Amino acid sequence: MNDTGEFKPKRIIVTGGAGFIGSNFVHYVVDNHPDVHVTVLDALTYAGNKENLAGIPEDRMTFVHGDICDAELVDKLASDTDAIVHYAAESHNDNSIANPEPFLRTNVEGTYRLLEAARKYGVRYHHISTDEVYGDLALDDPARFTEETPYRPSSPYSSTKAASDMLVRAWHRTFGVKATISNCSNNYGPYQHIEKFIPRQITNILCGIRPKLYGDGLNVRDWIHTDDHSRAVWVILTKGRIGETYLIGADGEKNNIDVLRSILERMGKSADDFDWVRDRPGHDRRYAIDSTKLRRELGWTPIHTDFAAGLDATIEWYANNRTWWEGVKAATEAKYAAQGQ
Ligand code: NAD
Ligand code: DAU
Repeated sequence: MNDTGEFKPKRIIVTGGAGFIGSNFVHYVVDNHPDVHVTVLDALTYAGNKENLAGIPEDRMTFVHGDICDAELVDKLASDTDAIVHYAAESHNDNSIANPEPFLRTNVEGTYRLLEAARKYGVRYHHISTDEVYGDLALDDPARFTEETPYRPSSPYSSTKAASDMLVRAWHRTFGVKATISNCSNNYGPYQHIEKFIPRQITNILCGIRPKLYGDGLNVRDWIHTDDHSRAVWVILTKGRIGETYLIGADGEKNNIDVLRSILERMGKSADDFDWVRDRPGHDRRYAIDSTKLRRELGWTPIHTDFAAGLDATIEWYANNRTWWEGVKAATEAKYAAQGQ
C-alpha cells in the first residue's frame, strides 16, 4: 500500500497468461507499469499459446509452464509474490457441454489451490469471472446485471465459474483472504481462440467457409474490447475494496446476427452468406452489464467504444496473423461439424 491507500504490487502472478484475455492483460501491464514483474503460470492447454507473449522482454516476465491444480508449484510461486491475478480456466461453453470434467478440475479445484496459497502467504488475490454466473435475461427485459443480481448459471462452464466465485467469497470471509472479484461480459480483440464466435466467423470467411449462426441468431451478448477489460482489472487490483465484486461492461449489447452481418459486410460478403446451425443446448438468451459501481467508485470508463472500429482492427489482426490460427482451423471446424454446428 502507498500513502493514498493504493495497492502497489511489484511482483504479480498471472494465471492463464498465455490465453486470450490473460495475455492481453500481461501486455497491458508490461506496457503501462514498468516497475511490475509478471510471472505467468499457464498449463498451455489447447487454448494457451506462448506466441501470445512474444516480444515481452525477459526481465519483465517469467514464464512457468505448469498447472494451477499443482499444489506444490502454486505454493512455491505464491511464496514470492505480492498478488495473484487468476485468469486460467476452461473457458468455452460448447466444450463444457461436450465434456464438463476438465471444467470442474481447472475452474473449481484450481481456484481452491490458488486461494489456499493466497491464504498461506497473505497474498492479494484478484479473481477473474464472468457475467454468465447471473444466468440470462429476456430480450425484452429492461434490466441489466448488477453486483446484487442472484447467481443462476446455466451451463457446466458458468456453473463452475459460479462455484469458483463462491469459494473466493468464502475464503475472504472465513480466512480473511484479501480478495476481489470481477465479472466481465464478452471480450473481443486479438489472440482470441478461433473456437469463439467472432474469430470463428472471421477465420471462416478468410478460409472460404460459410459462417455459422446458432439458433435464431437473436441471442444478445454485451461486447467489450479486451484492452478495456485489462484496464478495469488493474484498477480493481490496485484500488478496489477488499471483499468486493465489480462488474465490468462497456454498454456493448448486440445480437449475434447483427454482429455476424457486420463482419460479413466489412469483409465484402453479402449479408445472407452464412449457415443457420443447431442451437447450443441451454443457450443463454441475453447478457447485459450495469457497470455503475466500477465507474463511480474507481473512475474506470471504457475507451474502445466504437465497436465497428474494434471489429475492423480484429479482422485485420486475424488476416495479418494467419500462421497464428491456420494450424488449428481444420480440427476446430471438425469438432463443430461433429456437433452439427
Ligand atoms: P482462454 O481459454 O483463451 O485461456 C485460458 C488460459 O488458461 C489458457 O492459456 C490455458 O492454457 C490456461 N489454462 C487452462 N487450464 C489451466 C490449468 N489447469 N492450469 C494453468 N493454466 C490453465 O480463456 P479466456 O477467454 O482468455 O478467459 C480467461 C478468463 O476470463 C477465464 O477465467 C474466463 O472465465 C474469464 N472471462 C472470459 C470472457 C471472454 O469473453 N472470453 C469474459 C469474462 C470472463
Ligand atoms: O459473457 C462472458 C463469456 O463470453 C465468457 O465467460 C466465456 O468464457 C466466453 O467464451 C463467452 O461466452 P459465450 O458463450 O457468450 O461466447 P461464444 O463466443 O462461444 O458465443 C457468443 C455467442 O455466439 C453465443 O450466443 C453463441 C453464438 N455462436 C457461437 C459460435 C461459436 C454462434 O452463433 N455461432 C458460433 O459459431
